[in-house]
Amino acid sequence: MMRKPTILVTRRMPPAVEARLKRDYDARLNPDDRIYSSEELIAKAAGADGMLICSSDKITPEVVAHLPESVKIIATFSVGYEHIDVMACEARGVIATNTPGVLTDATADIAFLLILAAARRAYEAQTMLRQGQWTGWHTTMLLGIDLAGKRLGIFGMGRIGQAVARRALGFGMEIHYHNRSRLPQELEAGATYHPTLESLLQVSDVLSINAPSTPETRNILNAERIALLPDGAIVVNTARGDMVDDAALIGALRSGKLRAAGLDVFAGEPNLNKEYLSLPNAYLLPHIGSATIETRDRMGFTALDNLDAVLLHGRPAPNRLW
Ligand code: DGY
Repeated sequence: MMRKPTILVTRRMPPAVEARLKRDYDARLNPDDRIYSSEELIAKAAGADGMLICSSDKITPEVVAHLPESVKIIATFSVGYEHIDVMACEARGVIATNTPGVLTDATADIAFLLILAAARRAYEAQTMLRQGQWTGWHTTMLLGIDLAGKRLGIFGMGRIGQAVARRALGFGMEIHYHNRSRLPQELEAGATYHPTLESLLQVSDVLSINAPSTPETRNILNAERIALLPDGAIVVNTARGDMVDDAALIGALRSGKLRAAGLDVFAGEPNLNKEYLSLPNAYLLPHIGSATIETRDRMGFTALDNLDAVLLHGRPAPNRLW
């Protein structure tokens, strides 16, 4: 019988994904879900044919350089891949893959949850009620803003950005976007293209960040750019925290320049800037954009489809990064 390929699985996986891993591979699982250091990643990969990783694993050029020769593919259980040095992988002949497409709706749903929560002061309302401070209904209690008629600016109009736009149309919002390239008309669906982020910011009553984190987008929402947003705007981020200058965003939320923010992602997760915690106008979630049962299974299966293609079928990986 042919030997099953060995996979180093760096984090605990959903049960259905672990079942498929055990069926088809000699899987080195991580039942405790402890995050491995770079040294541990390298040591545990000894003799492995592939790795199934998450965005908490940093695949730096140093890690790639020290991985055993046996590793042919690194499949990440995520659409974002800023944690993988893809060029270093390619240079060493290691295939890197991600899981695009399968978490679009779940992430767009959370973007909308954040937009609604920020616009309607959900954190303050929840806190008032749970802390027994609700004295009864009155006409000016916890007033938020309507979404209908407001301009939604989408920074990054890929699959998730487009899914946010579809939802926003249902809420009667006007859609604007900035993307590296303009979408074909049928995908634009009436949205207004802005060739620069600066131009988009000026019309964004609500800004939704849906772009990938790259060296170019890191810290892109800084004090200068926040100043371009209309007074009282809302900022929502379901992409990556490192695109936002935290001190600038916190300052704008404190000063009232911005009405509110909704954040699912943070620089340095899980060690977010603690100042966010004291802001009543920041609605905060712990990176749960793709956290549905169905989506997490699909992410695992997509990562496995990539591993299977290369290690079981000798075929190109469907979601190769490069
Ligand atoms: C993704 O898929 O990129 C999610 O943010 C999880 O890391």
